[in-house]
Amino acid sequence: MKRKKKKMKKKVKILLFFLLLLLIVFLLWNSTKIVLKKEVSVSLNEEAKVENLLKNVRRGTVLNKEEALDTSTIGEKEVKILFKTFLGFQKTYKVTYQVVDNESPVIHFQKTLTTAIGKEIDLLKDVSASDNSRETVSVFVEGEYDFNKIGDYTLYYVCKDRSGNEAREEFILKVGDGNTSISSNESTFTTSKGFEGVVKDGVTYIDGTLIVNKSYSLPSTFGNGLTTETTNAFNKMKSAALLDGLNIYIASGWRSYDRQVTLYNNYVKRDGKEAADTYSARPGYSEHQSGLTFDVNEVSDKFIGTPEANWLSENCYKYGFILRYPNGKQDITGFKYEAWHFRYVGVDLATKLYNNGDWLCLEEYFGIDSVYKD
Ligand code: DAL
Ligand code: ZN
Repeated sequence: MKRKKKKMKKKVKILLFFLLLLLIVFLLWNSTKIVLKKEVSVSLNEEAKVENLLKNVRRGTVLNKEEALDTSTIGEKEVKILFKTFLGFQKTYKVTYQVVDNESPVIHFQKTLTTAIGKEIDLLKDVSASDNSRETVSVFVEGEYDFNKIGDYTLYYVCKDRSGNEAREEFILKVGDGNTSISSNESTFTTSKGFEGVVKDGVTYIDGTLIVNKSYSLPSTFGNGLTTETTNAFNKMKSAALLDGLNIYIASGWRSYDRQVTLYNNYVKRDGKEAADTYSARPGYSEHQSGLTFDVNEVSDKFIGTPEANWLSENCYKYGFILRYPNGKQDITGFKYEAWHFRYVGVDLATKLYNNGDWLCLEEYFGIDSVYKD
């Protein structure tokens, strides 16, 4: 009798144990989940992935977190998230996200327009605008001016996209007397080291070398690809590196003003303006727009110290290139060390800046600064 009871007890215990196990499995199954970010929205044309929508993933993995989100048009979108629980089951979640446009259109314009009294000119003649939505946007002029009165008029080009993002760019209309030269778009200055600078149609040259940094910008319409000189010099350098067993290739060459708008805005969104300004140039201030600059191989700190980076730092000057943002010069160039960013300046100047391996930057050599005015 006693024995039977004991056996019974054991059976109940085993049953309870399995029930408990079942309960634990059930609870764990239910607690495996993904937590989405609140109010998920991504920017139009942003390179966003499924993982950008996720806040937290519990007891499992998202199988398609690298999948690109469709950000090609504004509005609500849906994506399927494939989730594998730690027990190996697969779940699918349908998730919606918003594609929004917070980016202003880009206006291409000249900062100064000059005319003679009584001679009307079309202020919108060489002006155009582009928007990341790829829709047509139009520009209008805001402000008062009089072609019959001598003076400098501060005016604005204004352009709005469908989402209400507005671009507003200041320009000057100079109405001079009849003797004013209409094409006097040139001014000169002298640097603190005594070099002569010329600003011609909004582009700055010091001692004949085109300069782009945080103090000297390029017009938004400037550039249309790497210059032939730059490409030829790069090819020579690439061949020399190959003989030493190294593969050097261009990862990012010429970038248009518009491309820099997208890049810079994305970095600001990701890291904030202050941080972005230490490694990404604002539109119009990137040397990439000059056509004389490129990034090679891996655009990241991982490139520092690689055989390719070391070879370039020691040899690029022989082909007319400089390591534009050397280590330890951030306070002068305005940008962090970039082991991958090279600028064509010609062999003579490059050799001077190479400085027997102790790289000087353009700012030090010419006696100029690199700071944004606003
Ligand atoms: N990364 C450099 C500074 C640029 O954005 O041009
Ligand atoms: Zn670069």
